[in-house]
Order: sequence, then structure tokens, then C-alpha cells
Amino acid sequence: MDTQEKVVIVTGSGKGIGRGVAHTFAKEGYSVVVSDINYEECLTVVSEIEALGKKALAVKCDVSLKAEVENLVTETINKFGRLDVLVNNAGIFPFIPFMEMTEENWDKVIDVNLKSIFLCSQAAVKNMKAGGKIVNISSIAGLIGFAGLTHYCASKGGMNGMIRALALELAEKKINVNNVAPGAIDTPGASQPDQPRTATEELRKQTIAIIPLARYGQPEDIANAVLFLASDKADYITGQTLVVDGGFILR
Ligand SMILES: NC(=O)c1ccc[n+]([C@@H]2O[C@H](COP(=O)([O-])OP(=O)(O)OC[C@H]3O[C@@H](n4cnc5c(N)ncnc54)[C@H](O)[C@@H]3O)[C@@H](O)[C@H]2O)c1
Repeated sequence: MDTQEKVVIVTGSGKGIGRGVAHTFAKEGYSVVVSDINYEECLTVVSEIEALGKKALAVKCDVSLKAEVENLVTETINKFGRLDVLVNNAGIFPFIPFMEMTEENWDKVIDVNLKSIFLCSQAAVKNMKAGGKIVNISSIAGLIGFAGLTHYCASKGGMNGMIRALALELAEKKINVNNVAPGAIDTPGASQPDQPRTATEELRKQTIAIIPLARYGQPEDIANAVLFLASDKADYITGQTLVVDGGFILR
């Protein structure tokens, strides 16, 4: 079935930033493919979007597995007949001191955060027309260092480098590739007990004290930037990383 509405895939949209992106695009009139490794959470977000009178599809997908990524794009095309925007959002950020980090820890973060951008973008571009957009959620951790996150900083720094080359290659197809780099955002993932900046109220206060705009970001703060980069208002922007961090890395 072909739809008139533009179609967006949002990976890792069962909760957190991805869920916020899915809601924002749905309110803007996109048909939304809600995809996550956790299928139950996809179904919940799809119900929320359908309750707004908008169209959504739930697809389980582990973004580090090529077969599941290809299935995600196939299910999208089967349901909606087109793909306009890919938001590569799924990511993990377990804090592990460098000297305790195993090869498995390293590979997992690189596979989920970085290899996934390769897999998802390649599968998506095969089905995108001129005007298509890829927006990745990287991080300020790709621009500055965070102790305990060497694997994560490498993955996000890798994304920032990767899109400069990918934007060059996809320019001839008129497909734009950009990153949004969030600072500290209020999400379930960022509230886990292993997160040294957010695990307790005291740590949250300390983090807020170093953010010039003096608050945590909300998923909607990131979603609004993603929506802009996915729109035709950003047709002349490609290969860029837009920092959305309340000024976190300015000093
Ligand atoms: N929260 C922050 O402060 C912050 C800051 C900078 C960047 N980011 C980035 O934003 C993105 C979203 O983070 P969040 O804070 O919303 O996290 P979150 O943990 O709240 O949500 C992430 C979602 O991704 C899903 N996911 C995990 N592994 C997956 C996989 N292999 N395949 C598919 N889905 C998978 C999870 O099930 C979850 O629903 C990540 O890429 C993260 O690195 C977050």
C-alpha cells in the first residue's frame, strides 16, 4: 500500500529519545515505523501514536544484525510503499573503566552504535528517492571525552567521521546525512544505576550545575532538531553534526 504521507523509520524508539522522535514525527504527519530490540515497547509506542489518529507500524529489530535490519526496511516498504527518512537512534552507553573492559564489551558497543549506522543506512538508501534524509543520534561524547566510556566515545566519534564520507557519496542521489549530538537528556537509559552523572538526585544536581541552560534536555529537544534536519528546510545541509546540549560543551 502506498501512502501519501512521508514515512520515517526510527530505530530504538521503544523509549527515551527514539520514542520522543517517533511522537514528534507522527504529530508532524509522518507515518512512523517504531522499531526496537524490545517489541513490547514498540507496540506501546504504536498504540500511543494511533491514539493521536496517526499511522504507525511496530517492527522488532536488533540494529546490529544485518538480517533484522533488512527485514525492518522490507516490512516498512510492504506496509507503506515508501521510505523518506531514517533516524538511526538505537544506542547503548554502559559505563566500564577502560582496564576492566573486555573485548566483548568493546565489540557490543561498536556493533550497536556504529556498525548499525552502516547496516541501517545501506538498507534504507536502496529504497530512498532524491530528497531522502538520514539523521543519526550521535553524542557530545563523540566530541569530548568521558571517563568510563572509551568504547562509547569511539563509537560516537566514529559516527561523526563516517557521515562526512557518506554525505559525499550520497550527495549525487540527493540524500542528506547529518547527526544530532545530544548532551545530557532525561531518558530511561540515562537513569540506570551505572550512569555516574544521573544515578542519584545529588549527581543530577551536579550535572545540571555544569549545563549553562541549567536543565536536562528532554527527548523533544532532540526530536525538534531531528525533525528540522529531516525536513526540506535542511535540503542544503549535509555531513554536519548539530550539537543540542544546552551549552554543555561550551566551556
Ligand atoms: N540520554 C542521553 O543523555 C544521551 C546523550 C547523548 C546521546 N544519546 C544517544 O541517544 C540515543 C538514545 O538514547 P536514550 O538515552 O534514549 O537511551 P534509552 O536506553 O532510554 O533508549 C534506547 C532504546 O534503544 C533500544 N536498543 C538498545 N539496543 C538496541 C539494539 N541493538 N537494536 C535496537 N534497539 C536497541 C533500547 O531497547 C531502548 O528502547 C543513543 O544512541 C544514545 O547514545 C543519549
